[in-house]
Amino acid sequence: MKIELAESYGFCFGVKRAIKIAEENKNSATYGPLIHNSKEIERLEKDYNVGLTDSHKSFSSGDKAVIRTHGIPKNELEELKAKNVNVVDATCPYVTKPQQICQEMSEQGYDIIIFGDEAHPEIKGVKSYATYGARVVTSPKELENLKLKEKIALVAQTTRRVEDYLEIANYLIPRHKEVRVFNTICNATFENQEAVRKISKKADIMIIIGGKNSSNTKQLFSISQDNCKDSYHIEDEKDLDFSWFKGKQFCGISAGASTPDWIIQNVVDAIEKNQ
Ligand code: F3S
Repeated sequence: MKIELAESYGFCFGVKRAIKIAEENKNSATYGPLIHNSKEIERLEKDYNVGLTDSHKSFSSGDKAVIRTHGIPKNELEELKAKNVNVVDATCPYVTKPQQICQEMSEQGYDIIIFGDEAHPEIKGVKSYATYGARVVTSPKELENLKLKEKIALVAQTTRRVEDYLEIANYLIPRHKEVRVFNTICNATFENQEAVRKISKKADIMIIIGGKNSSNTKQLFSISQDNCKDSYHIEDEKDLDFSWFKGKQFCGISAGASTPDWIIQNVVDAIEKNQ
């Protein structure tokens, strides 16, 4: 069986940057996981003593808090600063952007629509910047019963599929006088998505590696499933079931933006060894 990696996969710019920041700030803690990959989080804790807490309230004056790539809600950031916590911001610049847009457009009187997952930390953070509130939707259907102003500003979660974002824009544009559509989907996501689309069309089995809570990995998996019915989302080599590969000719591999190379390599090695 041939094994091939997608042309673009794995670590994105924002994750690389955040890991570097965390490594440079030993003996600190992140509020919420820095990235959505538990194995890499464990490595940072073991090798750099970068801890993890699930509440911003657990930081005291003088502590060092590394802000996760997904960002945190505005009021929590303000609370940390007011308490004199040493804040080291590892929010991805592609996430800071929609935060700024939400704040500016909300203050200019636009109704803010966010296309994304309301429960995802990135969206909780982005939404908090809309001074006069924002609506979060995942499909045009959810817009049907909303009472909205004439002026709309639309942003997307960085890891969303562009095709789905266009559906939201297509719904809003004919119904409102002004719709400002901001392309806040990040390039790394585009590149990994394009590459998985391409390889999943020729593969008869696809392995997508990444955290089960990683939004961009889930998007890659969904694109892969559209083209290759034998697609599997795994976190690491321990999740592999070698019976999946029986009779297969071409195994395509991709990985989410927070999946480190060492995990990808372990998966490739395990598949090769068990052929
Ligand atoms: Fe940033 Fe895009 Fe990565 S938003 S964290 S560069 S997937």
